[in-house]
Amino acid sequence: MMRGKRIWAAGMIFCMLVLLSACGSKGTVAGSKVYVGVTYYDQSDTYMNQLIDCFRNEMDGLGESGLDITVTVRGAGGSQITQDDQVKEMIGAGCNILCVNLVDRTDPSEIIELARQNNIPIIFFNREPVAEDMHRWDRLYYVGADAEQSGVMQGELAVEAIRDNPQTDRNRDGRIQYVVLEGEPGHQDAIIRTESAVNTLKKKGIELEKLSYGIANWNRAQAQNRMMQMISQHQNRIELVLANNDDMALGAMDAYQKLNYTESALPLFFGIDGTDVGIKAVKEGKLAGTVYNDKEGQASAMAKLVKAMAAGEGMEDIRFTNDKYIYLPYSKVKQ
Ligand code: GAL
Repeated sequence: MMRGKRIWAAGMIFCMLVLLSACGSKGTVAGSKVYVGVTYYDQSDTYMNQLIDCFRNEMDGLGESGLDITVTVRGAGGSQITQDDQVKEMIGAGCNILCVNLVDRTDPSEIIELARQNNIPIIFFNREPVAEDMHRWDRLYYVGADAEQSGVMQGELAVEAIRDNPQTDRNRDGRIQYVVLEGEPGHQDAIIRTESAVNTLKKKGIELEKLSYGIANWNRAQAQNRMMQMISQHQNRIELVLANNDDMALGAMDAYQKLNYTESALPLFFGIDGTDVGIKAVKEGKLAGTVYNDKEGQASAMAKLVKAMAAGEGMEDIRFTNDKYIYLPYSKVKQ
């Protein structure tokens, strides 16, 4: 009788240990099938669509290498409420790894809570949550790039181009009159890129005069509108356009084209991202330069995390900054 009880108790302890290790283990996802749920802030964003394509390719690769994997991708149309609902739906449908490009990078609370309750790790990407939120749970990761580096590189490209082309200073007043096209207010890649590009130009001895700036939310059409307004205010005085991304630099060029400006009256345009259209414009000599935002590298880093989470091993081989961040380097692209 006593012996039977002992075997029963040992069996119970064993089951509890198995259950505990399945729920609480930091590295694995529950179940053998991997279901990755991806949501990104807006499906009309050129760079994000290219990054998502790269990520899909990576996931196809994991599938081909034998992982039983399903991927669902949703665009949130610029609404945090929609994105929160998408996360709920994907969790309801059995998703066990989340990849989230937040709509509002200061408002991940609901998503983090949902993930934590269900023990689903999150890979945030491109729109960096604030550090306080990233520390709310140990299964939160971030993949992106260092905004300051992109701004510095854009500034350096502009310095080189201005030095190589003294005619950039069309009114020969010894200063470069410039305007800035900015991404969304509050986005780490907007404020920091602008500040570091301008500071780099100044530090390298280029005298600057800021004429104006326009917020165009990463968007080509909005940038064209803002640029039309700035041209009507300042006419031929604009000598340099610094845009926080390629789409806005291209929108600025569209504005000049619409107004039939001749080539010699155009300012120098600089973007960031190295999207397909951006690189094409650099090759054609329309954009003076851009900074490559390594979407392939970011997608591959996300895939490594997915793979390690799925296998429950390999996290220790990934090189993190501060335990949970992966930043891919930018690089310069010029004519
Ligand atoms: C930036 C990128 C922009 C835009 C934005 C969206 O990193 O340069 O083009 O895609 O992310 O968050």
